[in-house]
Amino acid sequence: MAAESENGLQVQQLTAGYVKGMPIISDINLSMQHGEIVSIIGPNGAGKSTLLKAIAGLLRVESGSVSFDNRLITGIRPDKLSQSGVALVPQLDNIFRTMSVQQNLRLAARRCNANPRQAIESMLELFPVLAEKFNARAGSLSGGQRQFLAVAMALVSSPTLLLLDEPSAGLSPKAAQEVLGMLPGIARSHVAILMVEQNVKAALTVSDRAYVLAEGRNQYEGEASSLMNDPVLGEIYMGVRRVEAHATKSV
Ligand SMILES: Nc1ncnc2c1ncn2[C@@H]1O[C@H](COP(=O)(O)OP(=O)(O)OP(=O)(O)O)[C@@H](O)[C@H]1O
Ligand SMILES: [Mg+2]
Repeated sequence: MAAESENGLQVQQLTAGYVKGMPIISDINLSMQHGEIVSIIGPNGAGKSTLLKAIAGLLRVESGSVSFDNRLITGIRPDKLSQSGVALVPQLDNIFRTMSVQQNLRLAARRCNANPRQAIESMLELFPVLAEKFNARAGSLSGGQRQFLAVAMALVSSPTLLLLDEPSAGLSPKAAQEVLGMLPGIARSHVAILMVEQNVKAALTVSDRAYVLAEGRNQYEGEASSLMNDPVLGEIYMGVRRVEAHATKSV
């Protein structure tokens, strides 16, 4: 349970994009607490990655605000991100393939306030496969192992807000389940996890709540279980055809 002095992530009326005057996301509202897992789902091009990048300070924000634990972080410089307790695992290029697992973790640990050696040790306990592959080239790891490494590189600085862009993309169903399956354990240690996923069913299974974006705007929000059972969304995003009436509703 979050302490009263904390307020988790609050995104209010956020409008942002890549070119001035041409917003990709508009008036986005989103809030979440520590310990929650929240998914952002929506069609290709809906602005899901853009929203994560705007929260992480990688894009110009035209209006609105982002705050975390009552601290305004709108447009935060990416190099200040980890000091604010925020870590982003991007959709692509999230590890250095030609470097070893050890070198990747050391590089990531340079940003952490605590003892880097201890921080790496705790990551190897959390992801034993990375201990086994400690001296292997990161590019030689399997897809799932590479995602574990990317997540470990984010977690090594002990963030309290973890932003994940499609952590299961390109993975086999088994590897996807392994990666998504470890998220509840991470969230239990007081981390707020906000993730974008195309693998909607698997993502909702481990999420508490979800937001649906379409054309850069909030469309729906609700409990993950309600969204999973919504006939319209089930058909659109999970390929589940249902015989019930297709009444559009907010959940
Ligand atoms: N670097 C960029 N410069 C300009 N426009 C961009 C850039 N990146 C994305 N866009 C545009 O922003 C819109 C939203 O893209 P975004 O990547 O946020 O969508 P998404 O919901 O993450 O899609 P996907 O499911 O395919 O990952 C798209 O129209 C895209 O063309
Ligand atoms: Mg994307």
